[in-house]
Amino acid sequence: MYRSHNCGELRETHQNSEVTLAGWVQTVRDKGFVIWADLRDRYGITQLIFDEERSSKEIMEIAKSLGREFVVQVKGTVLERSSKNPNIPTGNVEVLVSEIKILNKSIVPPFTIEDQTDGGEDIRMKYRYLDIRRNPVKNNLIFRHKVAMEVRKYLSDQDFIEVETPYLIKSTPEGARDFVVPSRMNQGQFYALPQSPQTFKQLLMVGGMDKYFQIVKCFRDEDLRADRQPEFTQIDCEMAFVEQEDILNIFEGLTRHLLQEIKGVTVEEFPRMTYDEAMRKYGNDKPDIRFGMEFGELNAVAQHKDFGIFNDAELVVGIAVPGAASYTRKEIDALVNWVRRPQVGAKGMVYVKYNEDGSFKSSVDKFFNQEDLAQWAEITEAKPGDLICVLSGDANATRTQLSALRMEMAERLGLRNKEEFAPLWVIDFPLLELDEETGRYHAMHHPFTSPKPGQMALLDTDPGAVKANAYDLVLNGNEIGGGSIRIHDKQMQSTMFKHLGFTPEEAKAQFGFLMDAFQYGAPPHGGLAFGLDRLVAILGGQETIRDFIAFPKNNSGRDVMIDAPAAIDSEQLKELNLKLDLKS
Ligand code: AMO
Repeated sequence: MYRSHNCGELRETHQNSEVTLAGWVQTVRDKGFVIWADLRDRYGITQLIFDEERSSKEIMEIAKSLGREFVVQVKGTVLERSSKNPNIPTGNVEVLVSEIKILNKSIVPPFTIEDQTDGGEDIRMKYRYLDIRRNPVKNNLIFRHKVAMEVRKYLSDQDFIEVETPYLIKSTPEGARDFVVPSRMNQGQFYALPQSPQTFKQLLMVGGMDKYFQIVKCFRDEDLRADRQPEFTQIDCEMAFVEQEDILNIFEGLTRHLLQEIKGVTVEEFPRMTYDEAMRKYGNDKPDIRFGMEFGELNAVAQHKDFGIFNDAELVVGIAVPGAASYTRKEIDALVNWVRRPQVGAKGMVYVKYNEDGSFKSSVDKFFNQEDLAQWAEITEAKPGDLICVLSGDANATRTQLSALRMEMAERLGLRNKEEFAPLWVIDFPLLELDEETGRYHAMHHPFTSPKPGQMALLDTDPGAVKANAYDLVLNGNEIGGGSIRIHDKQMQSTMFKHLGFTPEEAKAQFGFLMDAFQYGAPPHGGLAFGLDRLVAILGGQETIRDFIAFPKNNSGRDVMIDAPAAIDSEQLKELNLKLDLKS
């Protein structure tokens, strides 16, 4: 038996009992005649004591040789500590060591294995196994496990069946590039790793599985950000014989259950907002609704004066930033520079200080009088003391810019309280999205999403106006899930492919299997997928998903610990009949 107790377990009630512990040496304090060592495992830290009076010479010698991260097994007696440590649960006791065995030595770790470590991100990623010994990382992984367990419990109780689907498949378009895997047995041919199990879960519905879920890895070759990894995990779900309402209810139930069980937070019915409304009010299809600063459209009151920039703009829109009228000239200039950064892309910003005395002071006083500005204040719902920030230009771009400013100001003002949870359904997404570069429409969600009933005909006349039975679940300004009611009719699916620019041959080659299946009694169905990494990170009060993944990739998509991706040797290339031409 390696251990009778773990390192987080011993209390005063264990006094005088003989115990065996095993773990890693966190620190050693050597006072010569007495040595203390902190022994750590997943469960906590227990103080060990060795002293000249009570411990043998041999044990004292071993104790003196201990280094950080040595793995040891000790036997000893639990004693009450003379100087207690109220900061840890085992802080009232220590173990007087009577036997010690070094199970493995350690070279000096490259950073301290403590909550506040001296190791930077790069070094911690390279030695991720050491990073995982630290509480912040370890606790995130345990937290993730808890969330995943609750998900499985809840869905299983609702009669969902977890079914595994293959990883070596053919491309499923979810809007990113595929990772591909060459086939040795079928030379010149490639599998694609799934961007999601979308087509398989639909086939499971045709197969009569009725309620499916899977906690599953998905792979997308896309640019990385704090909330994106090339491989990530979905809670993927699908149901047959359902309408949008059924799906929203079931997964609202799941989300509410998680908030309750994991965070102890009770949330009433989730608000719903159409995509159009979200764009109009927040310039964003995943608005953070924990705070106000809703957009006020000012065209009617700000145009047709002498201010040319506004007159030429498609949209003039503002927000009232609470309490920011006291900003100095320098602070406002910095804000103007902030919106001008290429990442935001605004040309400039007009501001209005709504002074505490009810008067207005703006950067465009030459063109607008106090009554004009009072109208702006009314529309943006500004109060005395607020700063109204106004952007103008092309409608879509301006909304995106103002949305970035809104989020930045909320962050600066501490309005994004991580202990507050504000979920929101965004519904009625457009079916199609225009790709400005190619001038072609592509599916906003994916090509299997059905248009709203009766809107099929609009596809020919005004494709951009067609709305879909598609929905996203948004939590605190993050898209944590998305889904749709699917097409289940072969004819409708092939019409959709036609509108997306597929020739009948291309559609058949890529998705013939799905359309074939639809001929054999496909039930009406729909579903959604949560991003598990995002969900866990947000429940954990953070937005960087990397911190909740055991072995994440860095921003260049590399695993710096195992050094992947890497070249493969020429033998392997030959076997796959692949030739590399890195020159071109
Ligand atoms: P979608 O593409 O919206 O839908 O993905 C579902 C959810 O997965 C998460 N997500 C990601 N998380 C981390 N890194 C990424 N690169 C990443 N990409 C997506 C998001 C997102 O909301 N098959 C459909 C679902 C359906 O229609 O049922 C799908 O994959 O939280």
